[in-house]
Amino acid sequence: MDFEIKTLSLAQAATLPADALLVLVPQGFTPGVDGLSELLAQALKAHDFEARASSLLHLYRAPGVAAKHLVFVGVAEATPAQVRAAVAAALRSLKAARPKQLLLSLAALPQSQTEGIVAALQGLAEASYVYTTTKPKAEARSLQLVRLGVSDAPACQAAFERGVALVAGIELAKEWGNRPGNHATPTLLAKAAKALADAHGLHCEVMDKGDVTKLGMGAFLAVAQGSQEPLRFITLRYQGAPKTQAPVVLVGKGITFDSGGISIKPAPEMDEMKFDMCGAASVLGVFRSVAALKPRINLIGLIPSCENLPDGHAIKPGDVVTTMSGQTVEILNTDAEGRLILCDALTYAKRFKPSAVVDIATLTGACVIALGAVRSGLFANDDALAQELYQAGEQALDRCWRMPLDDDYAEGLKTHFADVANVAGRPGGSVTAAKFLQRFVDDLKWAHLDIAGTAWKSGADKGATGRPVALLLNYLLAQQAPAPAPRARKSAKK
Ligand code: BES
Ligand code: MN
Ligand code: ZN
Repeated sequence: MDFEIKTLSLAQAATLPADALLVLVPQGFTPGVDGLSELLAQALKAHDFEARASSLLHLYRAPGVAAKHLVFVGVAEATPAQVRAAVAAALRSLKAARPKQLLLSLAALPQSQTEGIVAALQGLAEASYVYTTTKPKAEARSLQLVRLGVSDAPACQAAFERGVALVAGIELAKEWGNRPGNHATPTLLAKAAKALADAHGLHCEVMDKGDVTKLGMGAFLAVAQGSQEPLRFITLRYQGAPKTQAPVVLVGKGITFDSGGISIKPAPEMDEMKFDMCGAASVLGVFRSVAALKPRINLIGLIPSCENLPDGHAIKPGDVVTTMSGQTVEILNTDAEGRLILCDALTYAKRFKPSAVVDIATLTGACVIALGAVRSGLFANDDALAQELYQAGEQALDRCWRMPLDDDYAEGLKTHFADVANVAGRPGGSVTAAKFLQRFVDDLKWAHLDIAGTAWKSGADKGATGRPVALLLNYLLAQQAPAPAPRARKSAKK
């Protein structure tokens, strides 16, 4: 799917050939005098169309309109959320027409609404996405070219580029999230990271069992030992700022299938545990977006990846392992494996002397109970970092909610047989998981996003959401130092 942006009035939009023309109409909009505006004015006057959020009016081969399908799309106050939902609804309503070329006119929106552009692109991507990788006969997405018509294209260029990069990142995250466990093994995930790095000038390094054994990642190794599938530890690097600038490190949970191990999960919905690498997929997605936008930051991505399966070599409840940090862990429940692979990755993160570490993990069912599918759980040992991530999520419509980290929550992790147990009781399960992770970050500025409820949808719309790529990208873009001042003009020296 390709995107273009152009300065186009409504009148000009009407003359451009396309399979479909969507016209966004905010509340209170006064149509002009061109033919298209005339149609809109009539519809509004007759109350056949109102600019309410997501209300639609379809016209077919409308006079004076080059596009075959014309849709007026109400966006109410034209907030980014309204624009995203309305655009998605409009495109879904054209499903049967299978449009290839789409023209989306935002000319009627207030000029200041550049976030509307990002939102519109997200809405289009969301509504047209189809997963096809393991469905060879599936009809691929019909949309090939999307043109955005705006009142001032140069003023919208930066938002447009951000939107396009974001969509690419989200779609990469969805793709890897959706792939079944046997099509997204740790080895394949590492290959995808390598391919991403090769295609976009990033660095990628992949460690195997021997390498992580040398590093002493005893907890990560313990989870991987119950599976035939070899583990991988992926490191991605992007350098967009001087080497002296401390990087942000993202750590993504990459369990490509979580059966629970010996503490095996019940059969219903167990297939959804193929999504247990959505944290890892979001890291890949963020790198895809960052590679396109080239922000002035340094970024490291760490992905510990393995399966959690119960074979004869698998860890057993009660086993004690030694983590890379030197702390020992009693594994009371082999299904609490995410924290075991993450704790070693967090210890490893320290060597990059990061300005902040953010881990992203489908970590606990308890977080789904606490926050549902609306907001991701946000945990942080630093108020400023928490605030930055929270705000990034609000702006991106990829929301999170801060959860507590009182030390009292760590009481249940005490055990007679190791420095710490990997589970406490059921109460506050997402918090006790975060408290476990916190033991491994010491004085790093650290945040943990529990995306168990937000990374994928169940039921009729089953599939990865690509969250929280949008949140993370906004956070990272906000980390850029101010643009360097333009160099002094040489003529001054003359
Ligand atoms: N991957 C799961 C968390 C999960 C469960 C995400 C359901 C989304 C939906 C994780 O590895 C896990 O199994 N966590 C356990 C922890 C428990 C054993 C303390 C859980 O949440 O049940
Ligand atoms: Mn588990
Ligand atoms: Zn898991």
